[in-house]
Amino acid sequence: MAEGLEGVVAAHTILSDVDGVGGHLVIRGYELDQLAERIRFAEAAHLLLDGFFEDLPDIGELDVQLGQARVEAFEYANVVNAIPPGLNAVEAVRALIARIPDGDNLKIALLLLAGVSVFTAAVARARRGMPLISPDPSLDHATDILRMMKGVAPTPEEAAALDTYLVTVCDHGLNASTFAARVTASTLAGLNSAVLTGISTLKGPLHGGAPGPVIEMLDEIGDASNARTWIEQAIDRGDRLMGFGHRIYRVRDPRADALKKAVRILGPHSGRLAHAEAVEAAALEILRERKPDRSLQTNVEFYTALLLEALGFDPDEFTCVFAMGRSLGWIAHAREQVANGRLIRPASIYIGPVPQIAA
Ligand code: SDX
Repeated sequence: MAEGLEGVVAAHTILSDVDGVGGHLVIRGYELDQLAERIRFAEAAHLLLDGFFEDLPDIGELDVQLGQARVEAFEYANVVNAIPPGLNAVEAVRALIARIPDGDNLKIALLLLAGVSVFTAAVARARRGMPLISPDPSLDHATDILRMMKGVAPTPEEAAALDTYLVTVCDHGLNASTFAARVTASTLAGLNSAVLTGISTLKGPLHGGAPGPVIEMLDEIGDASNARTWIEQAIDRGDRLMGFGHRIYRVRDPRADALKKAVRILGPHSGRLAHAEAVEAAALEILRERKPDRSLQTNVEFYTALLLEALGFDPDEFTCVFAMGRSLGWIAHAREQVANGRLIRPASIYIGPVPQIAA
């Protein structure tokens, strides 16, 4: 049996391909570097959803409908201050998503896509004791998200950096949360159920819950001269270094440099960048020394952490921002699963006790 289904093909997809040996990510026929920094999130939505909704409009109209969906989603955020304080950011966003009705049409798809973003901004403002800011449907998606988060219009560089991030993480083959979303979709449970499965799976620290702990690691290491000692002690404890290693990539994750470039464009955070680069170099060296038979490289989460911190999100909110982008992939894969797939129901080998034959 392949532990963790490693190497098992569970679907044919036209959505994305992850080449772990060559270090390439292809989304609907485009290499990542033809998309990141070049297209907006709404254009990525049009690219991924093309062919999966008969009523998908052209990109101009999709921008309008996504703006309207943000306005409609905001209505569901009206209970954000009643969310139990014990829930972390991604659990609070999940609770708000659960208020959206299930369904399998474009309206629900856009409401979910808008909802993850609107709810993240609402949860972030509520946790800071600040009044919610309603969407401006006339703005581009990334611009409006940052405006709802910060209360002021973002700079063009900030909006471009968030667009780059959302496009870069929107889809990535059959990762754990996308596979989980496909399992849910395969029972015809509906798009909301698939997104709720996706965000619940994404939040784990081995998956989309990793970027927050990257910041904690950088802060705990402090001066880069402490990096080797801190990292060696972590490896000796059997800890996983957050932001490193990948089930598929045996070379550097192509998304790492796309996001590192976006951090550079944001400018004033270059101090954190230099520190992170020094820690990254130490981590890669020690992983080579300690795990010589396993190619452990920098993954998407390492520079995600710096980018989202530079955009003003708390580490606890990073997974919500990941979900803002990846919810597009979950929805596209859910539609592909319903269109082409069967109920996903693998086999298992029973190794439990054998029933005692009644005397
Ligand atoms: C994402 O699948 C996707 O596409 C995911 C993703 C996406 O876009 O959806 O790319 C997003 O989830 C990126 C990964 C984010 N997670 C982290 O950064 C957490 C730290 N990384 C590890 O937990 C780990 O690398 C995984 C979970 C990402 C992958 O682990 P695998 O493939 O299951 O490998 P493994 O756990 O079986 O480890 C194999 C060996 C082990 O050594 P031994 O115990 O055999 O001696 O490699 C070691 C591990 O100890 N190892 C690490 C390590 N990752 C693997 N050791 C230290 N630090 C690490 N990060």
